[in-house]
Amino acid sequence: MRNSLPEEEVMDGRRHEPVLRGELLEATAPKEGERWIDGTFGFGGHATALLERGCLVLAMDRDPEAAQRADLLRKDWGDRFRFIPGNFAAMAEVAGEAGWESVDGVLLDLGISSGQLDDPSRGFSFRWDAPLDMRMDPSGMRTAGDLLHELDEADLARLFAVATYPGESRRLARAVVRARGARRLQTTGDLVAAIGAARPSRKRIHPATRAFLALRMAVNDELGSLERALPAALRLLGPGGRLAVISFHSEEDRRVKQFLREHVRREPAARSGVEEKHSPMEGFVRQARFLPSKEEIVRNPRSRSARLRVGWKESRRDG
Ligand SMILES: C[S@@+](CC[C@H](N)C(=O)[O-])C[C@H]1O[C@@H](n2cnc3c(N)ncnc32)[C@H](O)[C@@H]1O
Repeated sequence: MRNSLPEEEVMDGRRHEPVLRGELLEATAPKEGERWIDGTFGFGGHATALLERGCLVLAMDRDPEAAQRADLLRKDWGDRFRFIPGNFAAMAEVAGEAGWESVDGVLLDLGISSGQLDDPSRGFSFRWDAPLDMRMDPSGMRTAGDLLHELDEADLARLFAVATYPGESRRLARAVVRARGARRLQTTGDLVAAIGAARPSRKRIHPATRAFLALRMAVNDELGSLERALPAALRLLGPGGRLAVISFHSEEDRRVKQFLREHVRREPAARSGVEEKHSPMEGFVRQARFLPSKEEIVRNPRSRSARLRVGWKESRRDG
């Protein structure tokens, strides 16, 4: 079996180590011939793991660079692998066009890859002075710089509140409004300078970390995409289907947890006294959470905030 995406073929030497790979495979037990949607192809690590298990994989990513890496995988795996560029929120339409009425598994590994974070030109990180862009899909949407200049102070505070502490978001918004009054914020360095003045920098986490995360999530409407994708995945999953979501941010994890809990089938009325909310095939029969091992966190420190949540559907139609 060939090993897809060898290091020398990865663009610019940038890579991404798939997080919670072992836990994902153990929890979801992908089988030969199963149909899986990987909504967040990235560097193809998880997709390769599914292909190695004999699955058919329909992969998506909204970053055009991912399409180039997907070409390499297609050479190795032929018809078992397809890549469609776009937002995973549209997975139902994409699956329908591919002739997949139902699937056995859906994987979402949220956020951005190490490769995107480490690309100085994308503006995702404040380690380099780069244009304030932060778009995963560089076509059509507003950049981070546009948002920082278009939103009023109250909306900026709401934007920052997604990833910052109460009070901190209002301070950040005020600092941005003050700085942009003097001149346009054009680079990541401009933003760091603006908010550096807003918060003390003695803390262990760089003051800009949470502000950059909140801005990236807003630029890419990450929570909105997730909220559209979860019900679409639930509808697409056939009997025995598994939904697996890896998140790195508490707000994302909270939404996934709530969704899974809301859609876990209730006990039959006779036992619980509560009317059954879903027909057997609409909901999950159980859900669980998995965390990275200490070894993985040491090997790949970026995995430390990762959470995997899995929902399993009933495996027989007559449930
Ligand atoms: C954490 S990386 C995934 C890494 C991948 N699992 C691997 O093993 O290489 C997340 C990827 O999902 C993509 N992405 C994030 N949100 C998306 C969305 N709503 N629709 C499609 N792709 C998305 C990003 O562009 C990025 O390439």
